Amino acid sequence: MSLDSPSLGEEWQQDKSFAPSLAFSQQANIQDVDIYAKAEADSEGYWADWANQLEWSKPWDTILKWNPPHAKWFLGGQLNVSVNCLDRQLAQRGDNRAIVWEGEPGDQRTITFNELAHEVRKFSNVLKSLGIQKGDRVTLYMPMVPEAAVAMLACTRIGAVHSVVFGGFSADSLKERTIDCGSKLIITADGFWRRGKIVPLKHTTDEAVADCPTVTNVVVLKRIGEAAGISMNEGRDLWWHDLMETASDDFPAEPMDSEDPLFILYTSGSTGKPKGILHSTGGYLTGVYATTKWIFDIKDSDLYWCTADIGWVTGHSYVVYGPLANGATVFMYEGSPDWGVSDGGIGKVSHAQNTDRARFWEMIERHKITILYTAPTLIRTCMKWGAELPASRDLSSLRLLGSVGEPINPEAWLWYNEHIGKGNCPIVDTWWQTETGAIMISPLPGITSTRPASATRPFPGIVADVVDEKGVSVPDGKKGILVIRKPWPSMLRTLWGNDERYKQVYWSKFPGLYFPGDGALRDKDGNFWLLGRVDDIMLVAGHNISTMEIESALVEHPAVAEAAVIGREHDVKGQAPVAFVIIREGHGLDSSNKESIAALSAELKEFVGKKLGPICRPEDVIITADLPKTRSGKIMRRLLRDIAEGRLLGDTTTLADPAIVASLKDKYTSDES
Ligand code: WT7
Repeated sequence: MSLDSPSLGEEWQQDKSFAPSLAFSQQANIQDVDIYAKAEADSEGYWADWANQLEWSKPWDTILKWNPPHAKWFLGGQLNVSVNCLDRQLAQRGDNRAIVWEGEPGDQRTITFNELAHEVRKFSNVLKSLGIQKGDRVTLYMPMVPEAAVAMLACTRIGAVHSVVFGGFSADSLKERTIDCGSKLIITADGFWRRGKIVPLKHTTDEAVADCPTVTNVVVLKRIGEAAGISMNEGRDLWWHDLMETASDDFPAEPMDSEDPLFILYTSGSTGKPKGILHSTGGYLTGVYATTKWIFDIKDSDLYWCTADIGWVTGHSYVVYGPLANGATVFMYEGSPDWGVSDGGIGKVSHAQNTDRARFWEMIERHKITILYTAPTLIRTCMKWGAELPASRDLSSLRLLGSVGEPINPEAWLWYNEHIGKGNCPIVDTWWQTETGAIMISPLPGITSTRPASATRPFPGIVADVVDEKGVSVPDGKKGILVIRKPWPSMLRTLWGNDERYKQVYWSKFPGLYFPGDGALRDKDGNFWLLGRVDDIMLVAGHNISTMEIESALVEHPAVAEAAVIGREHDVKGQAPVAFVIIREGHGLDSSNKESIAALSAELKEFVGKKLGPICRPEDVIITADLPKTRSGKIMRRLLRDIAEGRLLGDTTTLADPAIVASLKDKYTSDES
């Protein structure tokens, strides 16, 4: 993004403001408008008050030790995450529902806190029996099923560090992430249902594990059964249900130091290799507990649905840890938003027969879901499918809506408000990152007057600012770069195995200030407007994808000499990857033959999709003779974006003359340095 990019129009100057209703405000978990000032006056005391609401087996001595850029919170204290999410809830809420789950074919399960705690204690024993010790890494490559939460919580119970890899990622991605953190164990399933088809997790795991020397076992959950057609590798692979059958239900939780690592989650980096974001125990739990309570206004009476997959940080913080630490009931769904409940038996219905673009609304009606937290890409997709679909269902159980993942454009915000919230639900547009662990900028739904497309104010205790390239605060109303001025409990502690890179990526641009990599503007009322990434990370359907990662994949193809990838604006996904590639001499491509160019483009799209997962598949691959570069050798991404978005050449899919981009270069080089 350049800071004068058109991604934010002048919405922030329009005076469209939505105040919470009196009825909502009067029941809200936080009603005190002075909370911002109080948190600012004594931020350490404020965070300690939050941490005090958790259960600690040993109290801390020091709230914060800040040795920039390394923070330690609640030092000397000990606690266990699974105790806070489970054991602590049992006396009051043992029989309350912890998880309400629905599979894509329509099969359902309800799991109480008592039952979840039982499963977690047993699975903790399973992990121990497989030789997993405190501090060991465990990779999870799982579908959206309750067992994913069981496995995560069991890791926390024994003090193992989980690394969840999104089930849509490829074998290469799984392999790279498993090797990087040296996991001993992978927990997966035979597969899961998506759009009526089986996603073959176990097959993909087999492919990955072949090259992962540290992995000694693979635990396989049976989600599909026969139809998955998997084979078990004798001695290495074990069935989840076999191990659980004999496991004891008794497992005293391991007391963990507040700063002990809790999990690693990989996120794309601009240099290509994914970054292993490391979160620690006490601070992280404090952050997700606090934000869930106030931002989602969560109560025992709610049925709360965050649609994120556990493979993303949103799934960690707001499907599992934040809600369960609050004793809340979480709804979980396995599949796709456009696939209907199967009537021909589980998994028997073929793709073409079972499209149901009202599935989400149908489930909200049937389960009486009260809080919905989803992504702008989903909202835009639903807008495209038409307002008749949500209108055909009773959504009156909803009382609060949330958005996360990328800037939500005002049209989508207003549509969400009108067609899903029916004007009755506050909308919390929540800005945060894998690195921040918990929500950083968001309305407090009982207090804040919202503005479409603004995430409004930093959460109490979070000190955010907008600065220029030199790190100096810019005046309100001016675009700049977002920074966080003070450490916060749920911040990442480092990058796994690479503290230098941690310092360089987040703390070297402005020494002493955390640099999230987003552009922002603060208006005269103190509302923050997020403007997208300032670097070369794309946001595809809410997922952070690095242009470099796709470029690296492309050049592995024998035909490709060089590649440049940019994110093209996309009305549903936010951004879609588009690749410009130079073909190797001697590859024998006839550049005057449109058909052979098209065939090679298609092949390269497939190549990337297979290598990195479908989400990274370029929407277009444009073959070119040259790439426009600055004199210092940096690819002129802005020019490529102009081409890809049709500002220079119109529809690029018809771009069959590889010389065109090259000729543009000369024309535009002069105004880039
Ligand atoms: C990047 C972080 C946070 C979980 C999902 C993504 C963008 C996220 C918003 C929002 C504007 C947003 C930012 C951020 N982003 N939420 N409400 N408004 N932008 O986690 O993959 O770590 O990506 O997502 O650019 O830096 P992530």
